[in-house]
Amino acid sequence: MFNEHEVIAEINARGFCVFSYGAVADRFEPLRDIAARFGLGEAYVPELYASPQLSGHIGYNIAYSDIPRDLDGVQPGSAVPGQSFHVDALLEPLGAVKTSILYCVRPARSGGATQVFRACDAYEEIRATDPDAAAALADSLALRRFSTIGETRSESTGPAFGWVDGTLSTRFADGATEEWNDELGPDLERGVKLLREMSAAGGAYTHDVRLQAGECLIIRNDRVAHRGTPYVHGMLPRHLTRAMFRSAPSAS
Ligand SMILES: [Fe+2]
Repeated sequence: MFNEHEVIAEINARGFCVFSYGAVADRFEPLRDIAARFGLGEAYVPELYASPQLSGHIGYNIAYSDIPRDLDGVQPGSAVPGQSFHVDALLEPLGAVKTSILYCVRPARSGGATQVFRACDAYEEIRATDPDAAAALADSLALRRFSTIGETRSESTGPAFGWVDGTLSTRFADGATEEWNDELGPDLERGVKLLREMSAAGGAYTHDVRLQAGECLIIRNDRVAHRGTPYVHGMLPRHLTRAMFRSAPSAS
């Protein structure tokens, strides 16, 4: 088991924490237990999955979810591509979903680390060294995120960084479902380039976390970005469970 105060201290210091929870019969129990112990309240269903139209299309609208969603459809030994950096809950405004928790039921045969990028810490460095680039990243029209599920296109535009209730927060994401606002010119271009350099593997702001069976990763989703790296399923699928919460963890 884990020490709640140590976990909170680590989350406050760097925006995430990995610890061993142990094997359980109910794969969602660790998520519920951690939520209760850290005062996280009800698990949150992101807007993208909450609308009946969308959830009907992908058959997915529960607050506690399996990754992959369709465990029974996984081919043994099949490969899964990596993701680009993002914060969870693509349609929500900056700082709205403060916590994501992953619990590992079974790791991949190979690969499958989660890469964590301490985006807000990187942004503090940009503020100090290139204030104009930092200002462009905080522009309310800097970053558009979108999703197309079935016929429905959903999108959300906002700053990549900003302060929410006095806390520097991020919705940094940089992949196929994002567009940076060209109209903000070279300042934003420089800011994005700096973030791409700072989020490169092996840099001062990135951390590789490969969860073993029974381990948990708590992420301050409003402070750090993350991405799944490629992996290969074993005979049994790689299996994580996940829940998101609007509040940040705090010690009871
Ligand atoms: Fe994610």
